[in-house]
Amino acid sequence: MDLETFAPGSGLLEPRAALRSDAPALDLNGTWRFRFSQSVNVHEDFAEPSFDDSDWDSLPVPSHWNLHGHGAPAYTNVDFPIPIDPPRVPDENPTGDYRRVFDLPEGWTGGRLRFEGAESFARVWLNGHELGFWTGSRLPAEFDAGPYLRPGRNVLAVRVHQWSAATYLEDQDMWWLPGIFRDVTLTRSSADVFVHASYADGRGTLSFEGEGTLSVPELGVADLAPGTEVSVEVEPWTAETPRLYDAVVTFPEETVRLRIGFRTISIVDGVLLANGRPLLFKGVNRHEFHPEHGRAVPYETMREDVLLMKRHNVNAVRTSHYPPHPDFLDLCDELGLWVIDECDLETHGFGEVGWRANPTDDPRYADALLDRMRRMVERDKNHPSIIMWSLGNEAGVGRNLAVMADWTRSRDSSRPIHYEGDRSCAHTDVYSRMYASHAEVEAIGRREEAPLDDPALDERRRGMPFMQCEYAHAMGNGPGGLAEYQELFERYPRLAGGFIWEWIDHGLAHPTYEYAYGGDYGEPVHDSNFVIDGLVFPDRTPSPGLHDLKKVFEPVRFEFGDGVVRVVNGHGFRDLSHLDFVVTVEADGETVAEHRLTVPAEGGEVKLPPPPAGDGELWVTVRAVLAADQPWAAAGHEVAWGQAPLKPFPSPVEPAAPAVVSAPARAVLDGREHHVLGDAEFDAATGRLVRLFGTEVEGPRLDLWRAPTDNDTYGGLAGKWRRLGLHRLTHRVDGIEAGDGLTVRTRVAPAVTDLGMRATYTWTAVGGGLELTVDIEPEGDWTDPIPRVGLNMTLPAGTVEHVTWFGRGPGEAYPDTGMSARVGRWRASIDELQIPYVFPQENGHRADVRWADFGAFKVRGYPVFGLTARPWSAAELDRARHRPDLVPGDRLHIGLDLAQQGIGTATCGPGALPAYDLRAGRTTFRLRFEPS
Ligand code: GAL
Repeated sequence: MDLETFAPGSGLLEPRAALRSDAPALDLNGTWRFRFSQSVNVHEDFAEPSFDDSDWDSLPVPSHWNLHGHGAPAYTNVDFPIPIDPPRVPDENPTGDYRRVFDLPEGWTGGRLRFEGAESFARVWLNGHELGFWTGSRLPAEFDAGPYLRPGRNVLAVRVHQWSAATYLEDQDMWWLPGIFRDVTLTRSSADVFVHASYADGRGTLSFEGEGTLSVPELGVADLAPGTEVSVEVEPWTAETPRLYDAVVTFPEETVRLRIGFRTISIVDGVLLANGRPLLFKGVNRHEFHPEHGRAVPYETMREDVLLMKRHNVNAVRTSHYPPHPDFLDLCDELGLWVIDECDLETHGFGEVGWRANPTDDPRYADALLDRMRRMVERDKNHPSIIMWSLGNEAGVGRNLAVMADWTRSRDSSRPIHYEGDRSCAHTDVYSRMYASHAEVEAIGRREEAPLDDPALDERRRGMPFMQCEYAHAMGNGPGGLAEYQELFERYPRLAGGFIWEWIDHGLAHPTYEYAYGGDYGEPVHDSNFVIDGLVFPDRTPSPGLHDLKKVFEPVRFEFGDGVVRVVNGHGFRDLSHLDFVVTVEADGETVAEHRLTVPAEGGEVKLPPPPAGDGELWVTVRAVLAADQPWAAAGHEVAWGQAPLKPFPSPVEPAAPAVVSAPARAVLDGREHHVLGDAEFDAATGRLVRLFGTEVEGPRLDLWRAPTDNDTYGGLAGKWRRLGLHRLTHRVDGIEAGDGLTVRTRVAPAVTDLGMRATYTWTAVGGGLELTVDIEPEGDWTDPIPRVGLNMTLPAGTVEHVTWFGRGPGEAYPDTGMSARVGRWRASIDELQIPYVFPQENGHRADVRWADFGAFKVRGYPVFGLTARPWSAAELDRARHRPDLVPGDRLHIGLDLAQQGIGTATCGPGALPAYDLRAGRTTFRLRFEPS
């Protein structure tokens, strides 16, 4: 059967550039007639124009049929959801038959049917004549429609199979989403052109391949013939300064419009350069995804992606792991992003069987692999934003890589070739890796990496720039370790930066779960929430990871000295003249002064205004904001900021007045013995605080647990914690002593083991409040990092609506995350304190809190504490699998933390760096409770 052929297609026209032409075109998107079958064995008579489709359904094109009630989506990462037996596929092969009737405008002759994308194998008929078939889901296909078009009514029929021989080339980590999911047009355009526009020292060199003549009016270039070269004075294209020139190519039958950007990518002494200057990728990996439409992404959503990236200081995108919709690349040209365009190729699942029969090394698949590369390069060759071609992702090694690379080099020598899957780099121009640890990245930066067995290949690779095509896996809470990676990328010239994995959580909108992930549609084989690993949530709300990334990628740095700040320009290709600088001084989080700062365009040291007199903690914040509107953000948009204390911090915050210490009184309340100390009541039998300033409370008591993050779980720490029983600690009271205050001695420990913590709580009444000192002493041999050291307290739900705090905010921060959290005074509702990770886990921890006011009372740290406040317990958070599982209970759960374990990025990559590991140790924690 055709769909099990190694051939990539039949009847196809030669691939050509995506171009904006004035040739007539008929948009064939819209509502098509549709019939779904679970298997391929359905009669083909539907292609006949006379076929009666009145009992068929209708389906929008572009779309995926399984997001419209026909079959269901399925998610796998590496595994194939079908037996590995290339080129054979199961009989049970979801198949969609499509029909579209259209009227040909008067006088129309000839034309091409163009499909921008269909997954994974499609056959097409026009008026009952079979035009051919194609594969390569995320690549365009064109057929000559001319001979079969008729005046008036025409019937287009397409049959799409989900599984085919080509499926073995498309094992990307994403939902399996069949159907015609990109545009369909009938076009009279047939033009092709390949523009070459390079840049050096203020001048651009322009030529083109093809036919017709090329004009760029703004540059005075008129009627340039193919193959002729002109040199013109131009401004270069860079992602920071995306200067485009409108060009027109005139053919006898049509005129096409292009936007030309002049730039040159080169590699000199192992350093990646753009226009002769070092190019540092601050990148993200972008899959095409929309929570309702899957990979049929609306134009406005593509635009939103680019705008969001620009606004978060992202300068590069890898189109993981297939060429995106062509409009996305236009947006990258226009708004400015460096692009690595990746071929639609991944065969990762063969790794599960020792790479046996891997298509990458099977000559029978050579044509198909080359065809994919050609169709990508030909379609996208005119984009200035594209600065590298990638052969694909995780496709192992094999001779077909050479076929792809050799052809690409001969077709386009202006762009380096990327492929991560072959460590020898035999076919690439850059050394690319994924998830390498900080230590390994540093070794590579120093050119001290472990050698390859083959000395010639080793020498070649040692001369290459290095990049991480994937690093910092943004799954759930995290990623940690971003700042440390960036520091290395900026220190070693060989390091060209990298691309975060990944841009968006692929959570599909779901009536019960809010967002679905693997397994939610009953798939027998799936990879659960590994598809929820983005910097933005499925609705494109930035997650804390994106806020942190923005901070780490800032193109301006502030270094504070005594009364001065050094402003460092970190842009690669522009100065600071497009920015305004604003200085704010805050005392205890309240603004006391604000000034504009004049900063030289090239940066430099600038005097800060003298600090105002007065008490309190003083902080100065300098912000760089856009001076004028840019196409990607409005004037005033904050690009970078820096903050420094004007007095040393942490400052020793001591009790204000000499403490009037009072001894506890005994009282019988509700029939039970109590100790009353200041405005607090303690149960005499358990020593537990039960009422504080009139509010009923439980706790505070020591806890070591947090609902594991994805990184805790996949990195293996959570398993160790559970085996130790840290989620089921027991508390034993060993003694209660009432003297100047109240001392409660306890042992906190899990069953099964002899490990534990002695925790002694000492309460004293001071002024109008109470002070608590907790002495913690581990017992036994604690070998692994622990999740957390903190106190848990609960209050009746509804007692607290908002929390105001002075500390870092407004967002969450853990030891190795939260770079975007600055010191200030913040206020949030309980709801706003939660971070809506699609897969529930530890979240929302606010760091370095000096004080927090809950309305019912205030807590002060000596000097700081970490804060969480949730309408559910850590155990409930731990049990939840989807957001709707989290239902507010009748208690509010407050965490007052001394420390948390780092986050790291162990879902893929290294765990928290050793400096962020939380180790059990002897420690003392002091807090003060005051009335609000
Ligand atoms: C990489 C792969 C990505 C994704 C990631 C895990 O190995 O290239 O596509 O699967 O791991 O989320």
